[in-house]
Amino acid sequence: MTDLESLRKALLNEIDVVKNLEDLERLRISALGKKGKITELMKGLTKLEPEERRNQGASLNALKEEVIQIIAERSRFLSDLTLNARLLEERLDMTLPVRPEMEGRVHPISQTMNELLQIFSSMGFSVAEGPDIEDDFHNFAALNIPPEHPARQMHDTFYFPPDSSGERRLLRTHTSPVQIRTMQVAEPPIRIIAPGRTYRRDSDITHTPMFHQIEGLLIDKSTHMGHLKGCLFDFCRTFFELDDVPLRFRPSFFPFTEPSAEVDIGCTRKKDELRVGIGSGWLEILGCGMVHPKVLEHCGIDSNIYQGFAFGLGVERVAMLKYGISDLRTFFESDLRWLRHYGFLSLDVPTLSGKLS
Ligand code: PHE
Repeated sequence: MTDLESLRKALLNEIDVVKNLEDLERLRISALGKKGKITELMKGLTKLEPEERRNQGASLNALKEEVIQIIAERSRFLSDLTLNARLLEERLDMTLPVRPEMEGRVHPISQTMNELLQIFSSMGFSVAEGPDIEDDFHNFAALNIPPEHPARQMHDTFYFPPDSSGERRLLRTHTSPVQIRTMQVAEPPIRIIAPGRTYRRDSDITHTPMFHQIEGLLIDKSTHMGHLKGCLFDFCRTFFELDDVPLRFRPSFFPFTEPSAEVDIGCTRKKDELRVGIGSGWLEILGCGMVHPKVLEHCGIDSNIYQGFAFGLGVERVAMLKYGISDLRTFFESDLRWLRHYGFLSLDVPTLSGKLS
């Protein structure tokens, strides 16, 4: 008994002064582990007489329970101590300034494209898409640009090597092949816009080898040039946010439209600054015309019954005009400083001020 009592005192003393959880665990093992002091004593019980074994057994059990409980208490105390120390050390300073958050910007091309899509969809056009890699038929022949036609030189084309049948595929030079693909499958009336990437072998301050176009096509029985003009006036009024937008329709030539026109917008140019909507200067913004009967026939549409108009514009060009961006090449340099300056917050919504009549 006295042995047990002194063991008890010794253990309780040690537990009482132990300073950390690791030492406490070591102590627990030395008392209650497989070869611990209490465990060994319990093993020794078998050698005792029954009477003595009962007494000694009861005392040992009580000691074991007590030690388990005291260790648990000490463990809780030590954990609280560590936590409190950490809480003291890691105190939050609510007066610190907020760290600036990195926020992405919407690229002016995406923003402009979204605005264009919104305006034309509100006029009842739906979006049609086609492949960037085209064949000669869709990009040229069906659009009334036969081989050796001088208009092919206007489109400096990226060609792929010829395939086994000798046909050379190409990167589309305009979004007009989407007109063809649409007319081949859809029954008129047709009212689509085709946004997308286009490619030409050109690179200088006003040209990049890849650029974006949006093309419009409307086919119906009684469509005429007045509809085309009305549609483009409404579009420009809304896009440039000018009630009285100065536009000029200038006769031009495209093999796939007849008659054809180029549209200029009124502007002033002062040194580097260009302002649209005022002044006596003119700047070309898009090409358009009445779809050539041959193009309709190439797509299986009866040109005696149907006619329509088409137009195509450069997205970079109208973005530069609207947002005062002077160098086309900067669009594709991925310079974050440029993007922070010219980009849009994702919350910015296109400025449609209800100007469509
Ligand atoms: N496809 C022409 C171009 O890329 C633009 C255009 C489209 C002109 C539709 C007239 C009608 O230059």
